[in-house]
Amino acid sequence: MADWLKDAIFYEIYPQSFMDSNGDGIGDFEGIIQKLDYVKGLGFNAIWMNPCFDSPFGDAGYDVRDYYKTAERYGTNEQLKKLFDECHKRGIHILLDLVPGHTSVEHEWFIKSMKSEHNEFSDRYIWTDSVWEEPEGLNCIRGISDRDGSAGVNFFSMQPALNYGYAEPKRPYQQRPDDPAPLATRQAIKDIMKFWLDMGCDGFRVDMAGSLVKCDPEYKETIKLWQDINSFLKNKYPDAAMVSEWGEPKYSMPAGFDMDFLLHFGPEGYTSLFRSAKPFFSKKGTGTPTVFSQLYDISYKSAKENGGLVCIPSGNHDMDRLSRYRDTDELKCCFAFLLSMPGVPFVYYGDEIGMEYVEGLTSKEGGYGRTGSRTPMQWDMSKNCGFSSADSDKLYIPQSSSPDRPTVSAQQNDENSLLSEVKKLIAIRRANPALGNLSDFEFVYCRDNTYPLIYKRSCAEQTVYVCLNPSDKVQTADVPIKGNVIYSLNGAPTFDDKKITLPPCSACFVECK
Ligand code: NOJ
Repeated sequence: MADWLKDAIFYEIYPQSFMDSNGDGIGDFEGIIQKLDYVKGLGFNAIWMNPCFDSPFGDAGYDVRDYYKTAERYGTNEQLKKLFDECHKRGIHILLDLVPGHTSVEHEWFIKSMKSEHNEFSDRYIWTDSVWEEPEGLNCIRGISDRDGSAGVNFFSMQPALNYGYAEPKRPYQQRPDDPAPLATRQAIKDIMKFWLDMGCDGFRVDMAGSLVKCDPEYKETIKLWQDINSFLKNKYPDAAMVSEWGEPKYSMPAGFDMDFLLHFGPEGYTSLFRSAKPFFSKKGTGTPTVFSQLYDISYKSAKENGGLVCIPSGNHDMDRLSRYRDTDELKCCFAFLLSMPGVPFVYYGDEIGMEYVEGLTSKEGGYGRTGSRTPMQWDMSKNCGFSSADSDKLYIPQSSSPDRPTVSAQQNDENSLLSEVKKLIAIRRANPALGNLSDFEFVYCRDNTYPLIYKRSCAEQTVYVCLNPSDKVQTADVPIKGNVIYSLNGAPTFDDKKITLPPCSACFVECK
């Protein structure tokens, strides 16, 4: 694992919506550079930036038209290189978003693969041998090419699936993962990775990493494929980091990824924390921590065994904002959890100020329900919240019109704000080795339908108990914890020899000798 991941804390930047430097209503590289000191000032030392490549933007850039060229709206390749350099000057590492599973229908490879004459790209995608046959396990595009066949799609219908083969080919059009065409696709992806790593990026967040080999229910062939790519990478670029959008560390860790996210799809453990019908992190106190703990136990073990890390994101561009249905105290409690768990924390831009999910927006660039979580960052009280000098109706996505919409400037000087709490929690994580990314973890009090949740973080130098009571009632746990309270939210806990009692909607970190 790259050494820098041991103390990395990530900030996710959705480039469209972070900062517009040239007044065209959409964010850009130069805008991100202008805000790097803000990111650094909060204590983050790593960034994941969503796709910034040439694209028709049918899926916000997850439909790549040219992997080697940045989208004009964000800036040139040279400006992206400048962004890498400016990050590095500040001790920040930056990951690009790699989309290996599919391209746009406008990608040159796909245009060539649609031709009826056989050519170098005929098998770059999954094509059946007749337009009347659908590819197994996939939706498809058909009737748009001279070629007689249907092309499998990976996500939206304009995102044709690249061909990495089928785990167990059954039909003539299905190739083995180590047949020449799937191997050529794999090589093409390695070349793209080399290109950006040589330019200075520090690794990749990998889109739909588990989706590459088709009809591979236990991911055996997909794991082998990633082992190959990840070992190539580690040999040539030992400092590069790879984080998978897979959602199941029990598969991604053996595949050689450094980190994997727990996510809103796949097993429901992550969703049960913040986004289910009865989330654990809610004042209502009707959730349960054990759906999460069951998934986490398996995930943490896989990460430990394989020398990797589990990431629990505050949210991302695909999920409802963390702040939807939550007040500031509830959000602070969420962050006390997110910033005290092992692995690598990821904070989605704007979550640190409780940016709202904007209801009722028209879908933008394939966002649909996700559009409300992708609105432009709210920096200050000036026009467009300081995001852009464009006319408001020219913004990429409209901003919240609420008179009390949160902004960075309002929260920066308020020690009780969410932003100040997030900054404080990052500083506490950095100051206490037991709370570090690689320090040990154990659930201490985690029961079905019960609050609070208590876990122990430890390393050779220190032990810290993290006690979380998101509910709006006083909660007691029969755990004898005594020590020095190094962090408390909404009131101090009380201890005796047998139990700890926590005030409503509170959190505390207790250092024990
Ligand atoms: C996951 C990405 O996070 C999402 O935004 C995108 O639409 C799909 N993958 C398809 O690439």
